[in-house]
Amino acid sequence: MISPPFSAPPTARSALHQKNLVDTVLSLFFAGTETSGTTLSFGFLLLLKNPDVLEKIQAEVDRVIGEHCLPALEDQAKMPYTNAVIHEVQRFNDIFPFSIPHSVIKDTHFRGYYLPKDTTVYCILSSALKDPHHFEKPDASYPGHLLDAEGNFRKQEVFIPFSMGKCLCLDESLAHAELFLFLTSMLQNSLGPPKALEDIDLTPKTEGLGRVCPPFQVCFLPHGGG
Ligand code: HEM
Repeated sequence: MISPPFSAPPTARSALHQKNLVDTVLSLFFAGTETSGTTLSFGFLLLLKNPDVLEKIQAEVDRVIGEHCLPALEDQAKMPYTNAVIHEVQRFNDIFPFSIPHSVIKDTHFRGYYLPKDTTVYCILSSALKDPHHFEKPDASYPGHLLDAEGNFRKQEVFIPFSMGKCLCLDESLAHAELFLFLTSMLQNSLGPPKALEDIDLTPKTEGLGRVCPPFQVCFLPHGGG
């Protein structure tokens, strides 16, 4: 039983009111759709620009899932290359370079700096995602960053596109499930760029704190189709 009712105006004592409910649902939709959609768009753009990567990931999709079955989450464990590409798309495109703003809730001393209560702080995710000590080619898209010498998927500790610690994305596992299922089911088709590789521009657009994918065109053809 919820008391006071959801429709009651905000009070200092309760967070259970209509405005908070609407704001929370909107946050969930925004946080959970734009992010995965943007990452998928960047993924397809990168695959168009890198036909060798596209060929390898499609070979894995053909081998493990085939043309006629729907992908299932259990397939992920058998698809290290696909997994590495998905993670590399996130690392390279770095859609929230500064995560989202937070503020310190009390006067804080941190590594020689004094941060008075309510100071806004940003966690620079890029500094980890593009760290040359952990990624051989930090400014290139290179799935080998997330594979070991035997071709097994290896997640790095500095892979933090969902941020880290207490200020973490609410649903990293849902995001990864979505990215895997959408990407692999779409790669059961052949895809190709309608324009020359050198004309494909990977430069992201900046919108607020995030990076979004530039518009592009892609052709999907059923396997063996013309
Ligand atoms: C590729 C996909 C995604 C990326 C890169 C991503 C990244 C992030 C980042 C960096 C934050 C900020 C963390 C912070 O500093 O507080 C965040 C917060 C959040 N994310 Fe995600 N996210 C993704 C998908 C999702 C999905 C699928 C959901 C599910 C509904 C989701 C729900 C949320 C929510 C509710 C927050 C706010 C958490 C809070 O303030 O406590 N995200 N996400």
